[in-house]
Amino acid sequence: MDATSARPLAVISGGSRGLGFETAKALALQGFDLALVAKDSARLTSAAQMIHEASSAAQINISTFACDLEQPHLVRELIDSIKQSLPTPQLLILAHGVMSEKMSKTLKTNDAEWRRVMAINLDSVFQLVNGIAPAMADARNGRVIIFSACLGRMSGPGNAGGLAPYRISKAGVNALVRNLAHETGLGARGFLVDAICPNHSRTDMGGPDALRSAAEGAATAIWLATRAFDPAGASDAEKVTGVLWEDNQIVPW
Ligand SMILES: NC(=O)c1ccc[n+]([C@@H]2O[C@H](COP(=O)([O-])OP(=O)(O)OC[C@H]3O[C@@H](n4cnc5c(N)ncnc54)[C@H](OP(=O)(O)O)[C@@H]3O)[C@@H](O)[C@H]2O)c1
Repeated sequence: MDATSARPLAVISGGSRGLGFETAKALALQGFDLALVAKDSARLTSAAQMIHEASSAAQINISTFACDLEQPHLVRELIDSIKQSLPTPQLLILAHGVMSEKMSKTLKTNDAEWRRVMAINLDSVFQLVNGIAPAMADARNGRVIIFSACLGRMSGPGNAGGLAPYRISKAGVNALVRNLAHETGLGARGFLVDAICPNHSRTDMGGPDALRSAAEGAATAIWLATRAFDPAGASDAEKVTGVLWEDNQIVPW
């Protein structure tokens, strides 16, 4: 990474494929340098190559960080390495995640499955926010966007049974976002934090039959990443942070 780059930096977990990759590709075209995080190093390299090719005219810097986000001590090492090698990011987008096993109802799942999903979907989200976002909040110029899921909502199609580790990990993500938004002044201090629900999208997680393409699933995150924020704005879309977004609209938790 070029330390003198004039481009703002977006750190994107899950940037190797699926919704995180689509978000990263769009933000590269919009002028961001990228730090991509995922588990598989070869997939990260190929994602960075594809983004370079898609944005060939731009002088984009892309760093890749391979880390198993299931392992808390490795997440802390990752955070140190990002902080030592890169400037404070303007964007932290957490788009990594795993689905829980098919038969993972509360009475059927087990400790190992619960811990795996919670570690990746919730614990590492806490660690990455806790490790990377303080400098963004201090800079009064930071946005955190976390991929949640409709299945984690306490309303609508949310916690309606089945896939317990996944749904409950996403409900935890929602609570983390709302709590952090209140802790940081609901945008008044230049630090924004929001959750998004991408809806069922065609990725490795969503499967081939999902109605939305991966690019469509990433669209709300891309919009949020660059939207104008004004606490005195006329519409909720301009002045509200600390909420759950779907299709550029606020939806109930
Ligand atoms: N697709 C949907 O229909 C849908 C719907 C609602 C919400 N979501 C949420 O949207 C986000 C992105 O989903 P997606 O569909 O893009 O998923 P995906 O295609 O399965 O990609 C998952 C991403 O997470 C990374 N990841 C998984 N486990 C990891 C680990 N232990 N350590 C580091 N990285 C890890 C993967 O990295 P590797 O390539 O290295 O494995 C990959 O980049 C997730 O939070 C998901 O819950 C998706």
